[in-house]
Amino acid sequence: MGEIKEEVRSHYAELAEQMGGPAGCCTSTDDVCFADYSGAGLGELGLTSAHSLGCGNPTLLAQLEPGDVVLDLGSGGGLDVLLSARRVYPGGHAYGVDMTDEMLALANRNREKAAVENATFLKGTIESVPLPDGTVDVVISNCVINLAEDKGVVLKEAFRVLKPGGRLAVADMVEIETLVPAVKSALAAWAGCIAGTIPVEDYRRLLLEAGFEEPQIEVHDTHSLPEQEGKIGSTYIRAHKPLTGADPS
Ligand SMILES: C[S@@+](CC[C@H](N)C(=O)[O-])C[C@H]1O[C@@H](n2cnc3c(N)ncnc32)[C@H](O)[C@@H]1O
Repeated sequence: MGEIKEEVRSHYAELAEQMGGPAGCCTSTDDVCFADYSGAGLGELGLTSAHSLGCGNPTLLAQLEPGDVVLDLGSGGGLDVLLSARRVYPGGHAYGVDMTDEMLALANRNREKAAVENATFLKGTIESVPLPDGTVDVVISNCVINLAEDKGVVLKEAFRVLKPGGRLAVADMVEIETLVPAVKSALAAWAGCIAGTIPVEDYRRLLLEAGFEEPQIEVHDTHSLPEQEGKIGSTYIRAHKPLTGADPS
């Protein structure tokens, strides 16, 4: 495991112990972490938005239907998977993939507490998803793709597992104004969803290179780092896999 990935893993292993409290992906930039779960029915699952380490609510974007198969990249404590599982019931299933054992254990505890049966948490990386090609209707993710060193590989994996016509609905952080080198090279800033951010145009290019069509990237809030170190923003990202056509690889 590379240095960045190990820093991310150990950071989230520690946070798994504190979940439900005031810990977050973007603890230093809470004002851009719009995890808006009002009206989502979290109470029925025995959860609150404090169980989210995300920067949005991708289940709002995804227009899930009963029968859909959903995959959450970097599922953390499982909140988005459990909400999705309820929306795709009956007939559908929600998968979460995460590399951190402590997060998987927390997600499974939350699943049991919520008594959700159509959800499965898989151990794996978002760069190499343990699901077959063309089996997923909707890929969601909440503040995780920025943590990957190679976002292109992650987007290609999302494309691979999607069925033709499948959708991507992601909340993520992006770089709005160039981050200074000291921030870019700080491991803690990487694990905190800052240093790994990329500009919107780079995100759009990587989506197109992965094969996605009609990428839409909506920045819904921005946050300036102290002392003019740069600016980041919370975004909602949508795209879809063509119904037919060549695999870009
Ligand atoms: C910022 S938290 C977000 C968790 C969840 N999506 C939420 O909204 O609460 C990031 C999660 O992604 C996982 N993660 C980060 N990089 C990963 C990777 N390359 N492969 C698999 N999981 C990863 C971490 O273990 C952690 O649980």
